[in-house]
Amino acid sequence: MKLGVVGKGGVGKTTVSALLARELTARGRRVLAVDTDSNPNLGLSLGLDATQVDALPTVPRSIVVGNRGDLTVEEIMADYAVSTPAGVSVMSALRVTEAGAGCTCGGHATVRSLLGEALDVAVEDTIIDMEAGIEHLSRSGGTLANADVLVLVMEPSRKAVITAQRTIALARELGIARWIGVGNKVDESQRSLLVDLCADHDVPLDVALPADVELVAADRLALPLDRGVAAGIWAGVERLADLVLDREAVSADPS
Ligand SMILES: Nc1ncnc2c1ncn2[C@@H]1O[C@H](COP(=O)(O)OP(=O)(O)OP(=O)(O)O)[C@@H](O)[C@H]1O
Ligand SMILES: [Mg+2]
Repeated sequence: MKLGVVGKGGVGKTTVSALLARELTARGRRVLAVDTDSNPNLGLSLGLDATQVDALPTVPRSIVVGNRGDLTVEEIMADYAVSTPAGVSVMSALRVTEAGAGCTCGGHATVRSLLGEALDVAVEDTIIDMEAGIEHLSRSGGTLANADVLVLVMEPSRKAVITAQRTIALARELGIARWIGVGNKVDESQRSLLVDLCADHDVPLDVALPADVELVAADRLALPLDRGVAAGIWAGVERLADLVLDREAVSADPS
């Protein structure tokens, strides 16, 4: 499966990407997690230390679009993906290494092209942890045009749900067939608010992950997000993994 994890800023895309990557790996699947944040942090949540994250090579645009010679997907993986203690391979696609280095268009093209490759020869699941917002879908060609499924992460807020609604409209235009609505940081007191907001904006709410103080503490210390952290969140992560793997199950575009 090729998954794009998308949503408004700060809703928990990187957290959900790391948790889902771990859960799929625990089920015996080979998982590639791609960090598209120009300030990448996904590797930290998967158990790399800061030095290792800084040393992650960035996939150059020339490798995956245009003349990439005869590099196979396996060779791209070998050169640019790093194994993490979580068992997930991680790749950095949009890093900005110099101030004033310019835009990240090349990185977006890289992700689009990478998703278009037959990645399944090397990995079973590819999880793209996207930058905030919807620019990656509206960009010409759509960075995530080749994704099988979008994971729409939402906090219980109208703005987060409206972002998901806009994302769905763009996904339809791009021909992406499936999306899964994930509520995150959902306190019991806000659950019905989120249910109502999703209903108002025609956004599915397939899974709700609770707000968990242990996740915040782990994030502050840049600790890996494993089963020892935030025991209360894993049941929801398991349900999300079930939905991801069940191609028939959820939110197939009704239109
Ligand atoms: N279920 C949760 N409960 C409590 N805190 C959470 C939860 N999920 C994420 N957070 C916290 O919210 C903050 C933002 O999370 P994260 O970095 O995953 O968001 P993001 O959507 O990737 O952000 P950005 O848009 O900057 O990439 C972090 O401090 C994280 O620990
Ligand atoms: Mg993030």
